[in-house]
Amino acid sequence: MPVFERHVFVCTNQRPCDSPRGCCDPEGRRALQSLFKAALARRGLKGSVRANAAGCLDQCEHGPTVVVYPEGVWYGGVTAHDVEEIVESHVIGGVPVARLRLPDGCVNTKSCEHRVARVDVETDSVTP
Ligand code: FES
Ligand SMILES: [Zn+2]
Repeated sequence: MPVFERHVFVCTNQRPCDSPRGCCDPEGRRALQSLFKAALARRGLKGSVRANAAGCLDQCEHGPTVVVYPEGVWYGGVTAHDVEEIVESHVIGGVPVARLRLPDGCVNTKSCEHRVARVDVETDSVTP
């Protein structure tokens, strides 16, 4: 079995609609992940690039969140309309989609201006 060259992790975490941190998959249908899977399959990439359903990636305020490895490129606010562009430009062409990238100051830093509260992903309890 060939080794996967890339993984596209798609947050499919659900929270109540009124959660202060938001929710990447409010309908709980993993629709975004399914679109990535289909887009990759259409291009014959099923064996080399995997679209994984991920739990909370802790970038909730920027969601829906997607991260592509091994590059470690983070995307925020990803919609169904962005899937083809990410696959074509980034996965196939090697050029990340600049307009959807999360700034370095937003990813895994306390300085992110968008972060309103922290949610314990195990208990979903919110602390400021
Ligand atoms: S709910 Fe998607 S990153 Fe946290
Ligand atoms: Zn931010």
